[in-house]
Amino acid sequence: MAPTVQQRVGMTTRRSFLGKSIALGAGVVGAGLLVDGLPVLTAEASGSPTEGDIAILRFLAAAEIIESDLWQQYNELGGIQDSEVPGGTGNAAYTNALQQLDGDMPQYVHDNTDDEFSHWFFINAYLKSVGAEPVNLDPFRRLPSSTAPGAQQIKRLTNLMELVIDTSWWEKYRSDSKNPDFGDTFAPAVPGLLKGKFPAIPRHKEDLEGSTATTATNHLQAIANTAGFHFAFIEQGGTSLYPSLAQRVTDPVVLRILLSIGPTEAMHFQTWHDKAGNAPAITDPTNGLTFPNLAGSTDPLLEGNLIMPEPTIFLNPAFPHVSIVRPTNTQMAATSALQALVNDNLFAGQSNDFLEFLSSLATAADNARRGV
Ligand SMILES: [Fe+2]
Ligand SMILES: [Fe+2]
Repeated sequence: MAPTVQQRVGMTTRRSFLGKSIALGAGVVGAGLLVDGLPVLTAEASGSPTEGDIAILRFLAAAEIIESDLWQQYNELGGIQDSEVPGGTGNAAYTNALQQLDGDMPQYVHDNTDDEFSHWFFINAYLKSVGAEPVNLDPFRRLPSSTAPGAQQIKRLTNLMELVIDTSWWEKYRSDSKNPDFGDTFAPAVPGLLKGKFPAIPRHKEDLEGSTATTATNHLQAIANTAGFHFAFIEQGGTSLYPSLAQRVTDPVVLRILLSIGPTEAMHFQTWHDKAGNAPAITDPTNGLTFPNLAGSTDPLLEGNLIMPEPTIFLNPAFPHVSIVRPTNTQMAATSALQALVNDNLFAGQSNDFLEFLSSLATAADNARRGV
């Protein structure tokens, strides 16, 4: 990567893209065309996105498709299956295990899933409306579904059955002296989740043996606990990704899109952060995965109810500490987000073409420069 050179290349191509965009806008508005049933937006509503803006939106569209794919799997087994989020028939034992974290878990899983699909559909529709190519990951749907009762038998983009989950976001939001943008690192709240490959959904009916709609074995409870921490891991990533990339956006309408979607990721994260703290302190007898008693901890770096972002250093340690999203550094923000998902083992079983495509989208997004 050579940002200076790429910035100059981007400036040239952005102008050519702008010219194309304006010409297209004038033509289609005059003709009264529709894009997927939507009227083509006025120039004021659609803005004049630069090539970098489009690259950022395309990476975000891919991220939202990935989020939709994983949340869909959670909803089929542990959420509410309805006309808003169809697919699957639910699994009572897994749902009960999730509800040990909070009675409203099925509703929250449903609503988070609904939100991700809306992010995907909106960003792709916007891309089409300005004459840009939407993102389609359908050719990469090749991973198997869980065979546990309740899951659809369709091909997936993501694998929720062999996760390696980084729970350092727990301390990251509790620290009053460190910030990842300064290179600081954080200890995981559940160290065991980093050490192995763990399912966050029941993989097959054997994972449900001994559990009922009202009681969960420690094995199934560990699967539900794993999901609870994975929910927050995913959404804290989105919470940082949007403000990081927004700093590279040029067009005000594209900036409005990022500033309007991004905080919903933070709303999700805050909810899941709270629920993860209720995960029962148990050990999975099949693999030794242990969940600590965070709800009962009095350590300020572990205590379960300290879910508001603790004020910490920002920009310059000489400034007063401030409550912030972290990280929000713009360097390699998209690539880092993608790497976090790779490290999560979320794409276990996917082939290189999928990762290469995602990597190309991330690189293009990271090469975007604010041009005003
Ligand atoms: Fe999203
Ligand atoms: Fe999200």
